[in-house]
Amino acid sequence: MKTQRASLWLLGTTLVLCSVYTHGFRRCLISVDMNQLEESFQEIKRAIQTKDTFQNITILSTVETLQSIKPVDVCCVTKNLLEFYMRRVFKDHQELKPQILRRISSIANSFLYMQKTLKQCQEQRGCQCSEEATNATRIVHDNYDQLGIPSAAIKSLGELNIFIAWIEKNHQATSV
Ligand SMILES: *[C@@H]1O[C@H](CO)[C@@H](O)[C@H](O)[C@H]1NC(C)=O
Ligand SMILES: *[C@@H]1O[C@H](CO)[C@@H](O)[C@H](O)[C@H]1NC(C)=O
Repeated sequence: MKTQRASLWLLGTTLVLCSVYTHGFRRCLISVDMNQLEESFQEIKRAIQTKDTFQNITILSTVETLQSIKPVDVCCVTKNLLEFYMRRVFKDHQELKPQILRRISSIANSFLYMQKTLKQCQEQRGCQCSEEATNATRIVHDNYDQLGIPSAAIKSLGELNIFIAWIEKNHQATSV
């Protein structure tokens, strides 16, 4: 138990040091295989998007604010969107095809891992949610509620690429 705790502590410290030194501002790095995540999305994309009958509306990308989120709010918005997918989208979606379900489960596993990594990082540095970040999150939930299940879940799955790009941009060491 003791060694486990020590190595967790070490991991946390390493993550913090890495992000502080590489970026100089409050940014939590998430080490997940983004290629694998993108591959999983590509596998489900066609199946999901053909089921999406509301091509004229969007849940994530109406958040123009997602583009204008300030660096200080990145942590909060990522945390909230991970929660949104874990607590609502993945739970609400009823998938009948096993091969699609496997991919969705794989994405959900990656998200769970991201939540844990992010939490460790946030506990050490705090993760404030400004009014702007809270508003941006509320817009996503409002869009979701307006569309209703199951359409909203399908649309959100189809828009995973938007969120994946966001993570890549904000939480990967290789991004600028
Ligand atoms: C989007 O399209 C659906 C049907 O295709 C329609 O019922 C709905 O009113 C449209 N919504 C908007 C915001 O245009
Ligand atoms: C957040 O939303 C509320 C209610 O819609 C609005 O009054 C407020 O100006 C918004 N704040 C920011 C910072 O966008």
